[in-house]
Amino acid sequence: MKTLDRHYLLRHRDVPGIDTLQGYEADGGYSGLKKALAEFEPDAIVDLVKASGLRGRGGAGFPTGLKWSFLAKDGRPRALVVNADEGEPGTFKDRELIEHNPHQLIEGMLIASYATRSPESFIYIRGEFLHGHEVLQRAIAEATERGYLGDRVLGTDFSHHMYLYRGAGAYICGEESALLESLEGRRGNPRLKPPFPAVAGVYGLPTVVNNVETIANLPPLILNGAEWHRQWGTEKSPGLKVMSVSGHVTRPGNYEVPLDATLRELVEMAGGVRTGHQVKAVIPGGSSMPLLPAGQLDTPIDYESLVQAGSMLGSGGCIVMDDSTCIVAAVARVVRFYRDESCGKCTPCREGTYWMTDVLDRLEGGQGELGDLDTLLDVADNINGKAFCPLGDASVGFMVSAIRNFRDEFVEHITGRTCPLGARLYDTVNY
Ligand SMILES: Cc1cc2nc3c(=O)[nH]c(=O)nc-3n(C[C@H](O)[C@H](O)[C@H](O)COP(=O)(O)O)c2cc1C
Ligand code: SF4
Repeated sequence: MKTLDRHYLLRHRDVPGIDTLQGYEADGGYSGLKKALAEFEPDAIVDLVKASGLRGRGGAGFPTGLKWSFLAKDGRPRALVVNADEGEPGTFKDRELIEHNPHQLIEGMLIASYATRSPESFIYIRGEFLHGHEVLQRAIAEATERGYLGDRVLGTDFSHHMYLYRGAGAYICGEESALLESLEGRRGNPRLKPPFPAVAGVYGLPTVVNNVETIANLPPLILNGAEWHRQWGTEKSPGLKVMSVSGHVTRPGNYEVPLDATLRELVEMAGGVRTGHQVKAVIPGGSSMPLLPAGQLDTPIDYESLVQAGSMLGSGGCIVMDDSTCIVAAVARVVRFYRDESCGKCTPCREGTYWMTDVLDRLEGGQGELGDLDTLLDVADNINGKAFCPLGDASVGFMVSAIRNFRDEFVEHITGRTCPLGARLYDTVNY
């Protein structure tokens, strides 16, 4: 892993005060936008982003420039929607970017909107991010006052208006089509695809939906170029990534690393696990992703390596579990989250997450039967790839990987009629 001499996304860590327009401009802020408007035609920016290999940081890792080039070319106005819903358990990077470096997001949005010829953009921010909402409100007002937003941005022919919208706290509203429903004022249920947002997105307009971190990459990318971005990571997964490291580490937090860092390096950056304990397993990319046992800690975090190892980078929420963790309790807790957050629109996910929670609770409480493991895998199989939206798949990844890697621990709960580690999660709490 190449060591970083400074932060590019978590820039506020090195430069205090850049949450204000004055502080951000003093550190060269908005020069990426100025360069984009003065030196690039919109399509040239799309080409630059394609050449850089930048991939979406919201979860799927889709190439950003390619996504932009899918926008319908039928003369209708286009729109950019920034996904700031950040509901994936274990992920808290967008929140830091929003609260401490809001102008880098706004500048990135202006660059993306210029490149995609979008006269309007929307930020859909998670309802619980009250402070982030206030920070963005102030930053948008400052940017408007200074002429970065509004009619004829900085005296050019490019005009742009930006709107901020607060969600109401539903995980499913991070899924892009449910987000669009919610943004338009309806219940946040996923939409049938096709049509994809690039053809019919917000208010039926051709729309790009991008994650906060994806967009925050754009100002330094425009200033420094595609090759600069490619100096980090791998051929297929270039660049930097903000990883949220949580769980049993001594210094949980966000860490900006090149995309070829290993899971072990991340755990070490976060201070390692508590003295006297060992890593048991790591979920590399948020609770929707399969876990990897400690033996796979040397896996690099690039998209391809993690898939090859049996997991995914997802949103970059790295959850570290040490040897005091009861995997069965952890699985029961995570699956319960998906049961609660399932929007209920399709049967495999609505019913499946309910039944998995039921069986896992029994199992975790020492009342399971050996056939329960087959039942869990069977229910998971009836959800995986058969649900209406990816939340269904997300609800089974961790559980299936846990049964595969820690089957003995599940069996011990059943044969011993209790948790071998003495960690009973739902003894007293019934929710
Ligand atoms: C259940 C679910 C929740 C999601 N939550 C988020 C989220 O909170 N933030 C986000 O950026 N993407 C989230 N996504 C992914 C988005 O649907 C979409 O792929 C992403 O915003 C695209 O941006 P990107 O190309 O920049 O990664 C979620 C997807 C699913 C299925
Ligand atoms: S998979 Fe779950 S969240 Fe997605 S539409 Fe079906 S019920 Fe709703």
